[in-house]
Amino acid sequence: MYAERVLSGMRPTGSLHLGHYHGVLKNWIELQHEYPCLFFVADWHALTTQYDNPQGIEKASMDMVVDWLAAGVDPNQATLFVQSRVPEHAELHLLMSMMTPLSWLERVPTYKDQQEKLAGKDLTTYGFLGYPLLMSADILIYRADKVPVGEDQIPHVEFTRELARRFNHMYGREPGFEDKAREAVKKLGSKKARLYEEMRTRFQQNGDRDAIEQAKAVLDEVQHLSMADRERLFGYLEGTGKMILVEPGYLLTEASKMPGLDGQKMSKSYNNTITMRESEESVTKKVRSMPTDPARVRRTDPGEPAKCPVWQLHLVYSNDGCKEWVQQGCRTAGIGCIECKQPVIDAILKEQAPMRERAQVYLDDPTLVKNIIADGCEKAREYARETMRDVREAMGLEYH
Ligand code: TRP
Ligand code: SF4
Repeated sequence: MYAERVLSGMRPTGSLHLGHYHGVLKNWIELQHEYPCLFFVADWHALTTQYDNPQGIEKASMDMVVDWLAAGVDPNQATLFVQSRVPEHAELHLLMSMMTPLSWLERVPTYKDQQEKLAGKDLTTYGFLGYPLLMSADILIYRADKVPVGEDQIPHVEFTRELARRFNHMYGREPGFEDKAREAVKKLGSKKARLYEEMRTRFQQNGDRDAIEQAKAVLDEVQHLSMADRERLFGYLEGTGKMILVEPGYLLTEASKMPGLDGQKMSKSYNNTITMRESEESVTKKVRSMPTDPARVRRTDPGEPAKCPVWQLHLVYSNDGCKEWVQQGCRTAGIGCIECKQPVIDAILKEQAPMRERAQVYLDDPTLVKNIIADGCEKAREYARETMRDVREAMGLEYH
C-alpha cells in the first residue's frame, strides 16, 4: 500500500522548552508510529531573519535535534535531516520562483505581520519575501500529503497548494506523456494492466467514478512502481496529464496550552520557560520563585487557585486527588505555596528524567547525532532527487 507521507520542519531557535514538547514534539512522536515521517531543521528559514548573525545557527540546529531525540523522536522510524544539507530544496525554490507571482508572496499574512513584529530588523529582503516559497519547496519536493503545522503556518500551506496547482497546470503536460503512461501500464503486469485499462475505459467513456476508485486500489497494491510512474498512471486514468507536484494537506497542531512560569503561554520571548533539559536545581528554583495569588501575602492568608499561575501547572501535571488538595488547601490556607509547588516540581522532574537520560547518550558521543543526520539527509535526498528529475524534465531542463 502506498503510504501517505508526513513532513514538518522547525526553525532552529536554540534549546526547546516544555511548550515545544507538549505542543509539537508529542504530536510528532505519535505521527512517527502511523506514517512515514520526515522531520527537518529549517536552517535556511532561520537565515531569512538572522542573516546578519548566522554564526549560532549550526549549534542551535544540533541542540534542537538532541532535544527531538530526547523527547523520543525515533531516528529508526522517522527521517531526520537538515534543510541546507539537501540542496535540491534550493533548486526547486529557484525554479518555482520563476513562476511565482510577486503579489501572491506579498499577500501572505506573515509577511507584513513579521515585518511589524521585528520592526528593529530590516526584513525588506528578497529572502524574507521568499519565506513561504522556500517552505513550499520543502513540502513539494517530498510530495508530502500531510504537513503538521501550527495555525500561523496554515497560510503557507495554502500558498503551497496554489503554487502546486499552478505548476502542474503550466508544466503538467510532459512531452511524450501518453507513451510514458502506456509504458507504465505495462509495468503493472498483464493481469493488473488489463484491469487498469478496463477501469480507465469505463471512466473515460461513462464517467464512472467507481472505476477510478477501483483502478486506484489496483495501483495501491503495486509495490515496485516509481513515484513518477504512479503519478503518470493517476493522470492517465482521469485524462488530466501528469501531476508533477502533489497538493499537500495540513494537520493542525493545537496551540500548546502549556503555561509558562508567569501564567502566560510558555514562550522564549516572554522569558518564562523551562527548557526540556533544564537542570534539576534550576527547575526547582524556577518553580519555587513563581508568583502566586497576590492575596496570599502571609502564609495564613487564604488564596484562590484561579488567580495563580502555579495552578495552571497543576492542571497540566496533577491528578484529581492532588488538584482537590490544592483547591481545598489554598482556599483555607491549609497549605503553603511552597508546599503546593512541590508536586509540580516532582512531576516536571519525572517527565524530564527519561529525556535527560536519552540526551546524555548523544551528548557523550556527538558523532551519533551527526550520523543520524547524515543518514537522514541521504534518505531525504533520494526522494528529493526523484522529484527534481520530474520537475526538470517538465520544465525542459534535462540536457541528456
Ligand atoms: N515555517 C515553519 C515554522 O516557522 C517551519 C518550516 C519550514 C516548515 N519549512 C517547513 C514547516 C515545511 C512545515 C513544512 O514553523
Ligand atoms: Fe497558588 Fe498553590 Fe499558593 Fe494557592 S497555594 S496561591 S494555588 S501556589
